[in-house]
Amino acid sequence: MWYNVERNQIAFIYNNFTEKEIQAMSKKLKVGVFGGARGRTMIEVLLHHPDAELVAVCDKYRPLLDDVQKRADELGVKVALFEKFDDFFNCDMDAVVMANYAHEHSVFGTKLLRSGRHILSEVLPCENMAQAVDLIDAVEESGKVYAYAENYCYMQHCFEMWKRYKRGDIGEVMYAEGEYVHNCAAIWPQITYGERDHWRNNMFPTFYCTHSLGPMLTITNTRPVKVVGFETKPLEKMRELGTYGGAGLEIVTVDNGAVFKSIHGGLTREPSSVNYEIYGQKGMMESSRLDGKVLNVYRETGAVCRGEWEKYDPVNEIATEKAKYFSGHGGSDFYSTHFWIEKILGNPDGEWSIDVYRAVDMGICGILAWRSVVNGNIPIEVPDLRNVAERNKYRYDTIGTNPNFASGKDLLPKSTFGQPDIPDSTYEYVRQLWLDGKNAE
Ligand SMILES: NC(=O)c1ccc[n+]([C@@H]2O[C@H](COP(=O)([O-])OP(=O)(O)OC[C@H]3O[C@@H](n4cnc5c(N)ncnc54)[C@H](O)[C@@H]3O)[C@@H](O)[C@H]2O)c1
Repeated sequence: MWYNVERNQIAFIYNNFTEKEIQAMSKKLKVGVFGGARGRTMIEVLLHHPDAELVAVCDKYRPLLDDVQKRADELGVKVALFEKFDDFFNCDMDAVVMANYAHEHSVFGTKLLRSGRHILSEVLPCENMAQAVDLIDAVEESGKVYAYAENYCYMQHCFEMWKRYKRGDIGEVMYAEGEYVHNCAAIWPQITYGERDHWRNNMFPTFYCTHSLGPMLTITNTRPVKVVGFETKPLEKMRELGTYGGAGLEIVTVDNGAVFKSIHGGLTREPSSVNYEIYGQKGMMESSRLDGKVLNVYRETGAVCRGEWEKYDPVNEIATEKAKYFSGHGGSDFYSTHFWIEKILGNPDGEWSIDVYRAVDMGICGILAWRSVVNGNIPIEVPDLRNVAERNKYRYDTIGTNPNFASGKDLLPKSTFGQPDIPDSTYEYVRQLWLDGKNAE
């Protein structure tokens, strides 16, 4: 319904332009989606967005394409479906959502950028430092819009903290904590399909760091300069399901001297925890750990050590008519796609889109934190890859846990608690659970 209203409003605004100008401006962005599992969320946003048109979807797993076909038929729209990336790549698209494997966004994304497509990247931005450099190069060379779909920045409590920090409500940041604790043991069959090579089975503990770290950097508009990493003891159940490492922890110093603690991964609690605390010179803000979306804000009111608390459930004020149809991840799922589209079109909402520099700032903290961990938790400098001279130092740095890119001493272990040989029977067991549609017990 909102679609028609918006188009009418747009037509009204266009009254002062020629027919040709109206056509150029009202041309919808042709968008493809690469990866149809998580990508289903973006597909749904695109199917309903007034400024975009879903033209193609690529996934090598046919049943996911069949689901898209069914949905397109219900809505009476035509969407080209591809099992192979190369065929999808050759399709006529202005922009692509990358909802493919988390460790391959830079590999495929740079190819798409250099072919003249805008991209929206799901988490994570890159798997090693050389990929981080190549990603920034590709964005700068192409001049296309890169946006990072770190939707946790757009959860109600985070988005509100972002706006309030920007207004100066708590003063300059001194310390912050970010937490994305999610024990995925039960759903492991549904998200790894029993594939030994699945990225979730092979990721190093500090890899998936941007849900916890990203909002802190975004809210406070700071840049990381140093990181120390830690790995917790692994969850025994996860080892039985085919993975190696424990939860990841990063202690990050940022460019104004403040210190952030980021914790993420599988620790035991239910439901999962997505929480943030930001301490400033004049007050602090924190999400309420057991109280859903409630935000607590403390502000000093004149004298030191005297202040007032506000406790409330923040409400988004941006594009609310469009956003209300999407409730995934606390309502945040709509915004990453929406802000990217609006940035491409040069519209004001685009200012909230997360660019490649901030995306890489977030992602490389996890990559470098792992070096810290395997070297006995030493501090590691985090470079500013906005700077070309800094980029040149890391251009060929493929140190990491992926044997496709690193070998010899550059190939790091996936856990500091040992890397046992996991038998095929483990993955066969997980696969059978997935085929039977069952969770792990
Ligand atoms: N932001 C969030 O809240 C959130 C939530 C879930 C997942 N994710 C991210 O979404 C991405 C996808 O995760 P997922 O949960 O969908 O699981 P996934 O990584 O298993 O799914 C990726 C999909 O892409 C397809 N694919 C990958 N490479 C392909 C290729 N070369 N050709 C054709 N198809 C290919 C796979 O078949 C699969 O269906 C990851 O980056 C993950 O980090 C983000």
